[in-house]
Amino acid sequence: MKVLGIVGSPRRGGNTDVLVGQVLAGARAHGIETEKVLLGELEIAPCRACYSCADSGRCMVEDDFHAVLEKALNSAGIVLGSPMYVGTVTAQMKAFVDRVDCSQVEMARAPTGEVRFGRRHRGRFGVVVAICDLSPLAELRHCARVMEACLRDLGANTVDEVLAQRLSDIGDVRKRPELLARAFRAGERLAATIKGNEMG
Ligand SMILES: Cc1cc2nc3c(=O)[nH]c(=O)nc-3n(C[C@H](O)[C@H](O)[C@H](O)COP(=O)(O)O)c2cc1C
Repeated sequence: MKVLGIVGSPRRGGNTDVLVGQVLAGARAHGIETEKVLLGELEIAPCRACYSCADSGRCMVEDDFHAVLEKALNSAGIVLGSPMYVGTVTAQMKAFVDRVDCSQVEMARAPTGEVRFGRRHRGRFGVVVAICDLSPLAELRHCARVMEACLRDLGANTVDEVLAQRLSDIGDVRKRPELLARAFRAGERLAATIKGNEMG
């Protein structure tokens, strides 16, 4: 039983990295193994819309996407975190989100001709962490929605979201103990939900 943290910021040690780390620490405090990957240190190309995955169920672009996807599908919990870049998640996170959406959602053509989307995965739980500086909360919520959609595609119900504003420089979040505690609690909640689901 594992929780995987996926960091969409290109900055190792940045605010997103620290807050995703705190969520993972909260899960570890309840005996759950964790792992963290930084998308900025991997090669994950954007979706090419070739739709070959619609036939094969597998993305044909050979890069680090497949390793991260495998880790996510082998996890009971997934934490997705991204700073806001110009109103949405980072390019690194968006490339991952699009590749998951294209290859992991079942597409079927109805007799009437339109394409229907179905769920391939179920049974996981997730947390999203969205960070910005001066943008309003409504815009930050948009970032969270993008990552929640990805969690749904991965079969994970979102149990908590950590929204953090007024963070800019790389060490800013370390001066905000209330945010560190909030993220830790989100990890505890994730662990409790995973464990409750196992027992039930
Ligand atoms: C290219 C770029 C675009 C950004 N766009 C926004 C934005 O639209 N709204 C905002 O509030 N902050 C914006 N920011 C600030 C980051 O969201 C903020 O610095 C965040 O704390 C960075 O997270 P990190 O430390 O995890 O990298 C932007 C930063 C960069 C580098």
